[in-house]
Amino acid sequence: MVPIRWGIIAPGRIANKFASDFSLIHNHSITSVASTNIERARVFADKYKLSSFYGDYMEMLTKEKLDIVYIASPHSFHFEQAKMCLEMGVSVLCEKPVTIHSGQLKQLLSLAAEKRLFFMEALWTVFLPTYTQIFERIERGDIGSVISVKADFGFQMPFDQDSRLFNPSLGGGSLLDIGIYPLLLATLCLGYPEEIKALASLTELQVDDEIVAILKYKKKGLAQIQSTIRANTRTEAFIYGENGSIWVPNRWIDSQKFYVLKSDGQVDLIHSPWKGFGYQFQILAVEKCLAQGLFENPLVPHSLSFQLMNQMDEIRKQTGIIYPEDALNYE
Ligand SMILES: NC(=O)c1ccc[n+]([C@@H]2O[C@H](COP(=O)([O-])OP(=O)(O)OC[C@H]3O[C@@H](n4cnc5c(N)ncnc54)[C@H](OP(=O)(O)O)[C@@H]3O)[C@@H](O)[C@H]2O)c1
Repeated sequence: MVPIRWGIIAPGRIANKFASDFSLIHNHSITSVASTNIERARVFADKYKLSSFYGDYMEMLTKEKLDIVYIASPHSFHFEQAKMCLEMGVSVLCEKPVTIHSGQLKQLLSLAAEKRLFFMEALWTVFLPTYTQIFERIERGDIGSVISVKADFGFQMPFDQDSRLFNPSLGGGSLLDIGIYPLLLATLCLGYPEEIKALASLTELQVDDEIVAILKYKKKGLAQIQSTIRANTRTEAFIYGENGSIWVPNRWIDSQKFYVLKSDGQVDLIHSPWKGFGYQFQILAVEKCLAQGLFENPLVPHSLSFQLMNQMDEIRKQTGIIYPEDALNYE
């Protein structure tokens, strides 16, 4: 297979983890990095042995022949940066949440379609061996039809006005940052809800430091999700079926083990260890799509991102979480 030429935009915390997982997959590497700060780009390029680095995103897109760019900036920059990459004819893997609202996503998806480019939200947990096995078990009927999902994600983050988590102009709050994970699990297990009821605790700047939502599905299922940056919650997930359940212990989003609890009392522990942070599975999945000439990934299709974004729009509408981007009409 011809090596895929990756570029990275915004080399911060997550970009470092992503880049370090390349070392776990033989013969795969990143070509270039671009930062608004050339020194940061240089340090990143040295650390991961990249062939080039830039102090300007557009300069990298103009000078390098890239197959794909990984966008690793805070949420509020995803839309403009993904648009810039697509307009320059480069495919995109964009960190979650892919945009601030569904209007922005709609515009990106039509641009990706027009340019015939691959586009994917970095919903990396879907590709982890744990989740591959959980969905195989559900598929083969180990717990019967799924009727309920309960999942939370919470950590205590003292107020910090410099943190993107508290800043509305950086898409702050728990929902978009970590609430997306329980929402993703519920969507994968139960589909798109017909009804959502949500409550939030808002900071003075109208971003949520906690949300709780109950979702109801056509096929009689229910989900309960919680995200918070106010408390270290259990951060566990439960998938209940008609004949048993699956428990993914703390921290469930990237847990290397899970339990299947059958109605007859039998308990199976499934452990699938991996090295690194776990981003290598997403990297390989994206590269496979590019090699096959696909425009979207079958496990993380555009429709899944759209469903998540629509649900987050609805939760925000019900709870009054407001971002500057809401004032702009991207429809
Ligand atoms: N998949 C996961 O497991 C995971 C985990 C954590 C975060 N994330 C996602 O990754 C994204 C980045 O999160 P992070 O914690 O890695 O961010 P971060 O370290 O705070 O920032 C990453 C980069 O974004 C740019 N940036 C940061 N603040 C900025 C500002 N105020 N104005 C302009 N640019 C700014 C900078 O790029 P330059 O170097 O170019 O200036 C910085 O290097 C978020 O969307 C988050 O949801 C995903």
